[in-house]
Amino acid sequence: MKILVIHGPNLNLLGTREADIYGSQTLEEINASLKKLSADLGVDIDIIQSNHEGEIVDFIQKSDSFHALLINPAAYTHTSIAIRDAIAAVKIPAVEIHLSNIHQREEFRQKSLIAPVAHGQISGFGPESYLLGLRAAASIAHAKKGSS
Ligand code: DQA
Repeated sequence: MKILVIHGPNLNLLGTREADIYGSQTLEEINASLKKLSADLGVDIDIIQSNHEGEIVDFIQKSDSFHALLINPAAYTHTSIAIRDAIAAVKIPAVEIHLSNIHQREEFRQKSLIAPVAHGQISGFGPESYLLGLRAAASIAHAKKGSS
């Protein structure tokens, strides 16, 4: 069972970036927690981070060996038809996550172009959003594998 974790733009700056909103954990720390949980859940994870929309599209297009995607599209959540179309094209279930609760923030952040093609969305639990998202992705992946 394999899950691809995708971190979008500026998430490489976690820890120092707007810590009042995104918290003080670095991306490395979040990734370490994800790896630990993945071992407990019995799933393999690959983790990538990119600041480039087209590169994220390329990763999604090449993700056919994965059973689920866990994605924080960051700012592309609100702008990227290309990432939305890539998720729809590959037909791999995707869990969309956000550290902050995007629905409580500026109006431009309240709309997700990704949500309609995601299996579900987890938003507002800080780094815990990633761990909740991984549990959700593992459970969807298990269900998908069981039915194929
Ligand atoms: C974010 C929310 C986005 O609006 C923002 O552009 C981000 C991070 C979050 O995890 O809360 O970069 O996806």
